[in-house]
Amino acid sequence: MKKRVEETVEFLRHSGGEAPEAAVVLGSGLGAFAEALEDKIVIPYGEIPNWPASTAPGHAGRLVLGSLSGKRLAVMQGRVHYYEGYSMEEVVFPVRALGAWGVKTYVATNAVGGIDHSLSPGDVVLLYDHINWMGANPLRGPDTPEWNSRFPDMTHTYDRKLLAAAERAAEAEGILVKRGVYIAFPGPSFETPAEIRMARILGGTVVGMSTVPEVITANAMGMRVCAVSCVANYAAGMTENRLTGEEVLEEMAKASDRLIRLLKRFFTEME
Ligand code: HPA
Repeated sequence: MKKRVEETVEFLRHSGGEAPEAAVVLGSGLGAFAEALEDKIVIPYGEIPNWPASTAPGHAGRLVLGSLSGKRLAVMQGRVHYYEGYSMEEVVFPVRALGAWGVKTYVATNAVGGIDHSLSPGDVVLLYDHINWMGANPLRGPDTPEWNSRFPDMTHTYDRKLLAAAERAAEAEGILVKRGVYIAFPGPSFETPAEIRMARILGGTVVGMSTVPEVITANAMGMRVCAVSCVANYAAGMTENRLTGEEVLEEMAKASDRLIRLLKRFFTEME
């Protein structure tokens, strides 16, 4: 693992020089954010040694290096998910490589189902905590003291200053945002209504199939983490509707302009 990460970092350094300030991973249907970058270097995932290929719909599979609001960013158009069959180690490989390159801030975006009764499709939720209900942890395995301690603290996983910056950005853009707790299920089947009722009792506000493994790894490696969720659908059982992946992508397409405005302003606000 260490050797593979080193090989990837060498490639990234060769392609992009010093590590960018922040990395952003764009969830389902949000790939267009990368177009806002200046002085872009676009690298298909297939050209990056050891980088896992994303097979999920709505995920282009490119790393875009460039600048926005005077900040250098690494933007991932698409991520790999545990449900695609990758091991947890593979799922978080990009985070490992970006962290080892020297990226200090990790911003995750994702599509979610809304569990809390106050949420509707199109709402934006900033995460302040999560519940790992995937039944697996990306840090399981041999100790890697060069990257993280054996038992990383998770008390301050979602950086409060970044959360405040995201809230300022939302206010400046006139976008209503709420705070929430993300509960991660492994997928790929959507949850059952009973599972959603359970998730609500456990304290989940929104539900998804990504983000948590990346966030655990980024936090363990000492990166500051921020996560922005967009509600694509009412979680299972909350309406009579059946859930589909197409519906998720359709809702994300509708919300994409707003989310992209929020992200752009976020990087102006970010210190
Ligand atoms: N459940 C899990 N993941 C999701 C959902 C959902 O309802 N919507 C978008 N991603």
